[in-house]
Amino acid sequence: MANLVTSLCCVVLAAVVVAYAQRRSQLVARNQYERRGSDVTMQCGSLESDASVSWKVNGTDIEAQHQLNGPKLILTQVDLDHNGLYSCFQNPHGERRDTILLHIGMGSGGVLVP
Ligand SMILES: *[C@@H]1O[C@H](CO)[C@@H](O)[C@H](O)[C@H]1NC(C)=O
Repeated sequence: MANLVTSLCCVVLAAVVVAYAQRRSQLVARNQYERRGSDVTMQCGSLESDASVSWKVNGTDIEAQHQLNGPKLILTQVDLDHNGLYSCFQNPHGERRDTILLHIGMGSGGVLVP
């Protein structure tokens, strides 16, 4: 019996930790490293492919030239000036779902060479 209580306690604790980590991941920027000249896809959190989102970079709305594919933002042939802080907001209420710090490097294989 004591074992059951202990296990239940662990399950509840694990669920709380996971929920907290998920919440936190929406608020804390994560890093994405890409190579100069490559095509970059950024996924807004773990949203389903039919979700509708808006993106901002450095706090300003993203230019229309970039392709939007559900919760994904696609940048083609990125260059150093694509570096920045990208945030996505789920429509229609505009809750922030993800924040990505994009680093464009000159190296290969996503390794950043300053
Ligand atoms: C975002 O800001 C950084 C630093 O100020 C700048 O280097 C970068 O070019 C900006 N990114 C975009 C896409 O405007």
